[in-house]
Amino acid sequence: MARGFFLTFEGLDGSGKTTQIRKLTAWVEAQGHKVTVMRQPGGTRIGDRIRQLLLDSSTENLASRAELGLMFSDRAQAIAEVIRPALDAGHIVICDRYTDSTEAYQGGGRQLGSEIVLKLHDVICEGLQPDLTILLLPDFNRSLQRARRRNERNLKSGTDENRFEREAEDFYRRVYDKYCEIARRDSSRIVVMEGDAGIETIHERIVQTVQDRWQR
Ligand code: TYD
Repeated sequence: MARGFFLTFEGLDGSGKTTQIRKLTAWVEAQGHKVTVMRQPGGTRIGDRIRQLLLDSSTENLASRAELGLMFSDRAQAIAEVIRPALDAGHIVICDRYTDSTEAYQGGGRQLGSEIVLKLHDVICEGLQPDLTILLLPDFNRSLQRARRRNERNLKSGTDENRFEREAEDFYRRVYDKYCEIARRDSSRIVVMEGDAGIETIHERIVQTVQDRWQR
């Protein structure tokens, strides 16, 4: 069976993933390819319920290991229901966050460490790895500012998906450092887009990278 191409986007909250995913999706469609776009947590009916539980700021006392388990439950459902079938049908699957997020946020941010995350990835995701991961790493302080502004907007508009965005700066620093560590370890899969080169420039770099990897 034809296998598609599995591409994930990673980065801190406020790193510009959403904009870049939207632009890349339009580009892939314009090339005449079938594309499936997913976000994690969420993206399936069960996943959306898990997402609500995870991101709702009224969720209190969620133990770090429970949070970790929910992230993987969501992912297992996404793989079974959307990601595998789409890859089998030859689609390019673009996923907003995947296991690198769990390693960075729960492994780094929550200090559970990488080992437990990688072990769970092996058993629960059956080791399914992206063909390519784009890690957006703008300046740490600018990402943080953007995430905080979004948090304020969400609060005003009544959207209550702020549980992570309320974390303190040192939490995000650990997430950032873990992302850097993952990128160094897995440099053949992960392409890092550093700095604030501007939306169009980053988009062009991403398109170039996807073209190089995809047609290999
Ligand atoms: P979301 O609103 O989708 O944020 P963003 O647009 O920044 O991706 O919220 C996802 C939040 O969940 C984000 O703060 C990161 C966190 N997260 C984890 O902590 N672990 C994970 O495995 C995943 C997928 C997300």
